[in-house]
Amino acid sequence: MLSASDTDCMKTLAWTSEKGGTGKTTGAICLSVALAKRGMRVLLVDMDPQANCSLTAMRDELRGAPSLFDVLCDGAPASDAIRESRFDGVSIIPADGSLAEANLTLTGEMGREHRLRLALEEVENDFDVAVIDTSPQRTLLTTNVMAFADDLIVPIDPGTYGVAGLKTLMSVVYQAKKFLGNAQLAVLGIALCRAQRNNMTRQIERRLRGEYGELVFDQTIPNGVKVEEATSRNRCVVEYAPGDSVAKAYQALSEEIIARAQLEDEQDAGADGVNRVA
Ligand SMILES: Nc1ncnc2c1ncn2[C@@H]1O[C@H](COP(=O)(O)OP(=O)(O)OP(=O)(O)O)[C@@H](O)[C@H]1O
Ligand SMILES: [Mg+2]
Repeated sequence: MLSASDTDCMKTLAWTSEKGGTGKTTGAICLSVALAKRGMRVLLVDMDPQANCSLTAMRDELRGAPSLFDVLCDGAPASDAIRESRFDGVSIIPADGSLAEANLTLTGEMGREHRLRLALEEVENDFDVAVIDTSPQRTLLTTNVMAFADDLIVPIDPGTYGVAGLKTLMSVVYQAKKFLGNAQLAVLGIALCRAQRNNMTRQIERRLRGEYGELVFDQTIPNGVKVEEATSRNRCVVEYAPGDSVAKAYQALSEEIIARAQLEDEQDAGADGVNRVA
């Protein structure tokens, strides 16, 4: 397994899509739990002012402790904001509602697009992987993610708008590489999430695989009641109901992500990351 001592380099994976409710937060949490189970030191970063990820993953309330807003906007060290999450091996930089003000606060500030990168440089030797949950809105917060992430994981729900939104995202990636100087940014893969067993979903999946080929992960995530059940209890479906089909699907998707992102050691690695589209 890759460890920071081998590489001194934290890999950054961001769950992103400009459509709401596609499974970014659920995916970010499930992936973090799966990576930690494989022995990796995981930092979950909540870049969404809705703070859904923090709500599920935080053990205790913030009670005035530094949050991501303080790190991005007030120069608080990232290490001061990192806390243990509810999930073994997963730490979190939490957000709260104040993060909604970051966009306004950062406008006109020096280095506004690179605050996340600059902040996380301090802790990059302490973690193997950072998993970032993002907001569906394009703001300075998402620009910060685009300026820093290595790989994007794009969950889409099986609807016409979801597939149409992918073209916009590809153009955002191109712009981030060109204008934000993040040459390594790439879409690691597209995950079809919340898939139901009906003809419409099958048609959308065919179209998606026809247009984007290998970029679409083999594993789709079915729609399942256990996810909402877990969410309502501030749990992750992977540890809440490990035998459930959605939990198994998230485990399999995580394994695909680990292989594509080359987070396994060379002995285990079959592919050389060719699926990653830059
Ligand atoms: N596979 C699934 N089956 C059933 N419900 C799901 C599934 N995945 C996610 N959900 C539920 O759908 C809702 C939206 O999921 P989630 O919060 O992960 O999406 P999101 O993309 O992060 O949303 P937002 O864009 O608002 O941040 C949540 O209530 C979650 O519990
Ligand atoms: Mg979310």
